[in-house]
Amino acid sequence: MLAVVPPPVTVRVPSKINLHLSVGDLREDGFHDLTTVFHALSLTDEVTVAVAEEPGVEVYGEGEASVPTGANNLAWRAVQALAAHVGKPDPKVRVVLRKGIPVAGGMAGGSADAAGTLVALTALWKLDLGRDELAGIAAKLGSDVPFALYGGTALGTGRGEQLVPVLSRHTFHWVLAFDQRGLSTPRVYEELDRLREIGDPPRVGSHAPVVEALASGDPRQLALLLGNDLQAAAVSLRPGLRRTLRAGVNAGALAGTVSGSGPTCAFLCADAESALAVAAELAGAGVCRTVRVAHGPVPGARLTGGEELH
Ligand code: C5P
Repeated sequence: MLAVVPPPVTVRVPSKINLHLSVGDLREDGFHDLTTVFHALSLTDEVTVAVAEEPGVEVYGEGEASVPTGANNLAWRAVQALAAHVGKPDPKVRVVLRKGIPVAGGMAGGSADAAGTLVALTALWKLDLGRDELAGIAAKLGSDVPFALYGGTALGTGRGEQLVPVLSRHTFHWVLAFDQRGLSTPRVYEELDRLREIGDPPRVGSHAPVVEALASGDPRQLALLLGNDLQAAAVSLRPGLRRTLRAGVNAGALAGTVSGSGPTCAFLCADAESALAVAAELAGAGVCRTVRVAHGPVPGARLTGGEELH
């Protein structure tokens, strides 16, 4: 009798920016305590999983050449982690990543791929697992992976993996400036530790005003409050980002911030039309590799067929 092979499953998964990122002290485990406001953007990756005799990962699109396809790939680690969780040794699946999110860009692209893989495999293997159970596996894969499962706007604490949703009814419009090369996240955290040893780099205040601005839905109010403790470290390692940040505001954005550990810069705009105008001007300013527009918040990892996990 022929075994029935299930059809491939595709999931769309968002990128993130941090509207607020407060970095605390270095912990014993090598991580830093964070308080952050995550915001999921419409710049997405697509993850397709299929049963295959030859397991592995393929990568296409934005930055494809610099994504490892071996055992280190975070999506492959997600396959292994889910397989171990449900007692499936030697999983025979192929993962295809179609990347729109910049690689090593501070927008959690690798985390998105891991989250997308967890959701896609749950459907492919018809597992009885909800998002909350997947989040436990996600947190072990990386600090930003749980947020990519849920999306929306959320307050993150701990390493960033403990999440509480934040009310945000309004859609905000963003322009993203991708840099020529990525930045290593651990390297940026190390640089912040170094800057704090030799001086007093700026620290963002409380996240509470950001949460209020999100509830009000006024982009002008939110623009005044964007803040990221990692920005000084990213700019220290990549001084050209200063010019990029200035160019976005000169082009008409309300404010700009380095996204996560950078080097991508995110510019908040008054509306969709203004975002298109800022993007066009920034693209011509010669300060970055490429420019995208996006909006947020958007949902977390979703099957493209519209089905839902429970
Ligand atoms: O969790 P993730 O694998 O994304 O973290 C990558 C690196 O970023 C960590 O190894 C650590 O150096 C740094 N990091 C940190 N504190 C956090 C999150 C990440 O120091 N809360």
